[in-house]
Amino acid sequence: MVAVAILAAGRGTRMRSQLPKVLHPLGSKTLVERALDSCASVQPSRELVIVGYCAEQVQAALAHREKIEFVAQTEQLGTGHAIQQLLSPLQGFEDDILILNGDVPLLRPETIAELLNTHQQNKNAATLLTAQLPDATGYGRVFCDQDNRVQQIVEHRDCTDAQRQNRRINAGVYCFNWPRLAEVLPKLSADNDQQEYYLTDVFAMMEPVMAMDVVDVQEISGINNRLQLANAYTIWQERIKTHWLLAGVTLVDSSSITIDDTVELASDVVIEPQTHLRGQTKIGSGSRIGPGSLIENSQIGEHVTAMYSVITDSVVQANCRVGPYAHLRNHAEIGEQCRVGNFVEIKQSQLGTKTNAAHLSYLGNATLGDRVNVGAGTITANYDGVNKHPTVIGDGSKTGSNSVLVAPVTLGTDVTVAAGSVVTKDVEDDTLVIARSRQITRKGWRLKAD
Ligand code: UD1
Ligand code: CA
Repeated sequence: MVAVAILAAGRGTRMRSQLPKVLHPLGSKTLVERALDSCASVQPSRELVIVGYCAEQVQAALAHREKIEFVAQTEQLGTGHAIQQLLSPLQGFEDDILILNGDVPLLRPETIAELLNTHQQNKNAATLLTAQLPDATGYGRVFCDQDNRVQQIVEHRDCTDAQRQNRRINAGVYCFNWPRLAEVLPKLSADNDQQEYYLTDVFAMMEPVMAMDVVDVQEISGINNRLQLANAYTIWQERIKTHWLLAGVTLVDSSSITIDDTVELASDVVIEPQTHLRGQTKIGSGSRIGPGSLIENSQIGEHVTAMYSVITDSVVQANCRVGPYAHLRNHAEIGEQCRVGNFVEIKQSQLGTKTNAAHLSYLGNATLGDRVNVGAGTITANYDGVNKHPTVIGDGSKTGSNSVLVAPVTLGTDVTVAAGSVVTKDVEDDTLVIARSRQITRKGWRLKAD
């Protein structure tokens, strides 16, 4: 059994933001969620999040996660003071606890598992993650003896010039035996440059305390300002892209592409420049996405092309051609071998197979069969100002250019709608509908002078 506690009560003044630091996003998740996720590998029995600055906002942002216990730190008097707030909720807890700063989003789950393992194997009172950084500015410096036993941690601002030469830093990621930590927590004092209670002062009062150097120093990057947030984003993207490149995905001009860690790509997918893949998106083999596309929470089949298009919360089956400049949203479902072309918006609608809407259309709340041809400029008028209404178009039907289908309306199979029609009534199978005023031509007509 192991508990996890995340320090998330600070404002993060250096972010210069109204938003609490831990709620800034890294991709589709907030920093605090990333910290929690990195502990998933140890299957924590309890997850505690210490909240203070904008506590309600932080709680709301984590409301979708089960079993989180929020612990209030009403005044932010330092990281040690924050952990003192756990004394009451963890009373009687006898096991180990992982404590993480809420602003370290790049930790790998394997690293956390290894930290816990090292801690338990060595029967340590405390074990902390450290790194040898080329530039240690801002971090607490960790001083160890020859046996890697931690003697003390001194914050950057409290260091002497000589102490600052030490490049071994505290990552803000710790494993403690909780009863032993609980014993020394009340003894902390705020006798330092910031007049804060430092969690790092407990190490001088405990033993044995061991430091474990992380192999990939990028993992422990803490976020204190937006420059560090931007750098962390780049590192995170590099990891994701390296993974997909080695899995057989082509990324053209990869620095211009962004891919969430929740995305799944088959081999032989090609992602063209300026393309962004977000959320629960899956793309099938042989598909070519971009240039210039945004795909979010959508399933794309095999051998689909989607150029300069936006697809959200939708499904596109195999062998479709989408774009340029198509917009599929809110449960658009496109069958196989369809073509959805220039300036076509499809919302909450289903298209069968081999159905085309190639130019300048809006299809909303519509169900189209197979082999339908939607003429240029066809619009489903689905909204009467209060409610949305459905349009149904049967297999093999064709709508003429600039036709308006006023919903609710059903066109049967093999219907032909004349160009410029405004269709307000249902149309039977195998029928031509012309719903426009006739053209009148008068040869030789001129306006007479008065
Ligand atoms: C801390 C460590 C430092 C380490 C660094 C790693 C201390 C005293 N110092 O410094 O040794 O190198 O992290 O990134 O711990 N927080 C609270 N309540 C508070 C104060 C802070 O919950 O009263 C939270 C913050 O929201 C943040 C985390 O604790 O998530 C760390 O606070 P921060 O101010 O960023 O600490 P650092 O100065 O970076
Ligand atoms: Ca920090």
